[in-house]
Amino acid sequence: MKMAETSLKMVPKLYSNKERRDVKHHIKNLYSSSFGRDFEKYTMYKKKRTKIKKMGLTFDFKKNDLDLIKKSKETFLLAFLPTDKQLEAGNDNKQEMLKKEWNETIINVTSLLKDGGKIYIHSIKDGQDVIAFALFYVSTDETEIFVDILAVNPNYQRMSLGSTLLDSLFFEFPENSLIELITNRKDNEKALKFYKKNGFVTRFELSHNLVLVKKRW
Ligand SMILES: CC(C)(COP(=O)(O)OP(=O)(O)OC[C@H]1O[C@@H](n2cnc3c(N)ncnc32)[C@H](O)[C@@H]1OP(=O)(O)O)[C@@H](O)C(=O)NCCC(=O)NCCS
Repeated sequence: MKMAETSLKMVPKLYSNKERRDVKHHIKNLYSSSFGRDFEKYTMYKKKRTKIKKMGLTFDFKKNDLDLIKKSKETFLLAFLPTDKQLEAGNDNKQEMLKKEWNETIINVTSLLKDGGKIYIHSIKDGQDVIAFALFYVSTDETEIFVDILAVNPNYQRMSLGSTLLDSLFFEFPENSLIELITNRKDNEKALKFYKKNGFVTRFELSHNLVLVKKRW
């Protein structure tokens, strides 16, 4: 991945126009053949990243960074805050439940790290504040990514941050072929529309859970 990105950047400096075209063509084939990746989608991903950077936001992709995970608490709480409709339906203790859920996540992550496990966090920051993040695990055979939490601060929603974070899982992990996402929010219309738009399909349905899957394009 790193090598391919570097090659793209180096193209303008090293070659004549014709050679640049040849090299770009070669890289394009490389992406759509050996990496099995759609070059157009990769280009769109890079464009979305550039647009987000132009908004003054920064990307921070980390492995086993408990501090960065802890810094994401506020965004988790704000993103999953109950709507007025949910409050009317008697979910007024949801904030407490969310805090509990977050504490459980931190306990799980801490114990996983103690056991030598790996946990990744891809975040987008505004200054020092994490305003969007995806918390995920990679299976030991490295073929599957399990997304634990994906959350975007409500003030920054509908700006492609969530989709770009999802894309980043594929593009930063070229060896992985499948993203699995387990959500216990079957009633979350907004999230379901978002995942459908991002190419996810429902694999199976449990009482309160949906397992959504996206294969490598
Ligand atoms: C779901 C969530 C992650 C989406 O993040 P986002 O950055 O706002 O999403 P994007 O801007 O990338 O949206 C991409 C597409 O998804 C769909 N979408 C996103 N939010 C939507 C909404 N509120 N209503 C309908 N469609 C929506 C749209 O098709 C959108 O494309 P468009 O803006 O061109 O119409 C964000 O709303 C969130 O954090 N929600 C609360 C937490 C949550 O539910 N997480 C997932 C559950 S596990």
